[in-house]
Amino acid sequence: MFARYAALASAIAYLAAFDGAAAQTANQPPDTMAARVEACTPCHGNKGEGTSDVYFPRLAGKPAGYLYNQLLAFRNGRRKYPPMNYLLEFLPDPYLQAMADYFASEHPPLPPPAPSEVSKEVLAQGELLATSGDAGRSIPACVSCHGPGLTGMTPGIPGLLGLRANYISAQLGAWRYGTRTAKSPDCMQLVAGHLTEADVTAVAAWLATRPAPANPVPVPKGTYALPFGCGSQPN
Ligand code: HEC
Ligand code: HEC
Repeated sequence: MFARYAALASAIAYLAAFDGAAAQTANQPPDTMAARVEACTPCHGNKGEGTSDVYFPRLAGKPAGYLYNQLLAFRNGRRKYPPMNYLLEFLPDPYLQAMADYFASEHPPLPPPAPSEVSKEVLAQGELLATSGDAGRSIPACVSCHGPGLTGMTPGIPGLLGLRANYISAQLGAWRYGTRTAKSPDCMQLVAGHLTEADVTAVAAWLATRPAPANPVPVPKGTYALPFGCGSQPN
C-alpha cells in the first residue's frame, strides 16, 4: 500500500513540476513521449512492462485501441481508480491517444508465469472455463474473444497474458460490481455477471500460469469472429 502512495506522490510531484515549468519559458522540459509518460512509469514500468505490485497492470504491447479506451474510461469515470482518474482528468484526447500508441508499440518480454497457489483441480476448472466456457451457465469461452493464443485482437480486445492472478480477479470483480464498465454492449460485464467467486479464482489462476507464446502480438481485426459484438469491438 505504501509503495502505491509513494509512486502516486512522485507522479503528482512530477506533473506539478511540469505545470510550473510550462508556465515559465526558461527550463521547459522537452515535450518528448519519455517526458510525458514519466508520471506513469513508477506504477507501470519504463516501457509499460509492469512492476512488482500485483495490482499494477502491464501496458506494453496491448492493442492501442484498447489502451485508448481505458484512458478515456479513467478520464470520464467509467473505470475507477482515483490516482489514474486524477492524473488523466485534464488531458485531451490526442494526448491520451499518443500515450496509448506509445505503450502499444513497446514490446518488452512477457514475465515468466507465476507459480500458482491453487490446487490442480482449481487450475483445471479455470482452464475449462477459459478454453470451453460453460454453455449451461451462459459463459462463453474466454478464448472465443481473447483469441486461441490469448493474445487479443486489434483494435479493442486485450490479450490476457503477462497479467497476475490478483489483477485479473480484481478486474473481473470490478465488472461484477459495476466499478469498471465499457461501452455498451459491455461484453465483460455480461461474461463476469455469470461467474461465481470460485470461477473468478480459477480462471484468474489458470491465466496467470500461461507461458509467453512465441509471438504475443495481438492478431489483426477480423482474424476470427466474436460470439457476439462488443461496444469496444464491433464484429
Ligand atoms: C499510482 C499508480 C499509477 C499511476 C501513477 C498510473 N497508473 Fe495506470 N493504472 C494503475 C492501476 C492500479 C491500474 C488498474 C486500475 C484498476 O484496478 O482498474 C491502472 C490501469 C491503467 C490502464 C489500463 C490497463 C489495462 O490493461 O486495462 C492504462 C492504459 C493505464 N493505467 C495507463 C496509465 C498512464 C498512461 C499513466 C500516466 C499518465 C498511468 N497509467 C499512471 C496505476 C497507476
Ligand atoms: C464476447 C467477448 C468476450 C468474452 C467471451 C470474454 N471477454 Fe474479456 N474482454 C472483452 C473485451 C471487449 C474487453 C475489453 C473491455 C474494455 O474495453 O474495457 C475484455 C477485457 C478483459 C479483461 C481486462 C484485461 C486488462 O488488461 O485489464 C480481462 C481480465 C478479461 N477480459 C477476462 C476475460 C475472461 C477471464 C473471460 C472468460 C471467462 C473473458 N474475458 C471472456 C471481450 C470478451
